[in-house]
Amino acid sequence: MKGILLAGGSGTRMYPLTKSVSKQILPVYDKPMIYYPLSVLMLAGIREILIISTPRDVDLFKELLGDGSKLGMCFEYAVQKYPNGLAEAFIIGEEFIGDSPVSLVLGDNIFYGSNWSDVLKDAASLTNGGVIFGCYVNDPRAYGVVEVNEQKNAISIEEKPENPKSSYAIPGLYFFDNKVVKIAKSVKPSARGEVEITSIIKEYMRRDELKVELPGRGLAWLDTGTHESLLKASNFVEAIQKRQGLYIACIEEIAFRSGYITKQQLIELAQPLLKTEYGKYLVEVSHSINNAHVTM
Ligand code: G1P
Repeated sequence: MKGILLAGGSGTRMYPLTKSVSKQILPVYDKPMIYYPLSVLMLAGIREILIISTPRDVDLFKELLGDGSKLGMCFEYAVQKYPNGLAEAFIIGEEFIGDSPVSLVLGDNIFYGSNWSDVLKDAASLTNGGVIFGCYVNDPRAYGVVEVNEQKNAISIEEKPENPKSSYAIPGLYFFDNKVVKIAKSVKPSARGEVEITSIIKEYMRRDELKVELPGRGLAWLDTGTHESLLKASNFVEAIQKRQGLYIACIEEIAFRSGYITKQQLIELAQPLLKTEYGKYLVEVSHSINNAHVTM
């Protein structure tokens, strides 16, 4: 499976923070926001990732993450010229995707929970159809919303409904088979002028090829869409990291524990960061191979 990380958008809801810089480069506590969705794809076992951003911002991400080889990963970059909608990622990424299945994660979605990497690996093993998630939230009106029946099959999908039919929001993480490229090309723009991801999901539902996973309350799915929610996400990450001494979305740790890089490579990655807790943590992790049972 290949992965696409979409870090585009104009970020107008976060002005003035994002007037001159991408939202997905902003800090969530101690690391850039993009680390969080990137860690999700890595935990799913995906090693080839296309990062899509705006013409203005794409170089920022290249500078931050490079070609991925230092993490034993392979990163490519592409540009979304205009914010035409999420589904366009599959069209921009057509060549990159080739004949693979593909996962799409949005650059501002943060997930944290136990057994999460098992859930992700399971979703990433799909060969046919699509997998989406339904996360129970207090107010789903700002999201795609999925209604499920007792067998947990989707019975309706709506984008930002005023009167949601359920409390299950669809987070920005999707797994599809290779048909998604063709489907994306056939999708008509919505009233807000965007090719919506929900139109793609609906098509999989129509074909009876959609699986909805409900991770339950053990999974925290955090929003970073407003100044307040961004601050809350930072505080959440700080609280967990300080209490457990285990980091959230530490991409170097994931690469090491996944066996993509050696202890020596991890220590080298830590060198420029040694003035920070983050860098010290990497050194600690490099000594902790006997902690391999620490699940990610
Ligand atoms: C997008 C999708 C929506 C999804 C959300 C998750 O909305 O259109 O279906 O629930 O991401 O973050 P956006 O926040 O880009 O408007």
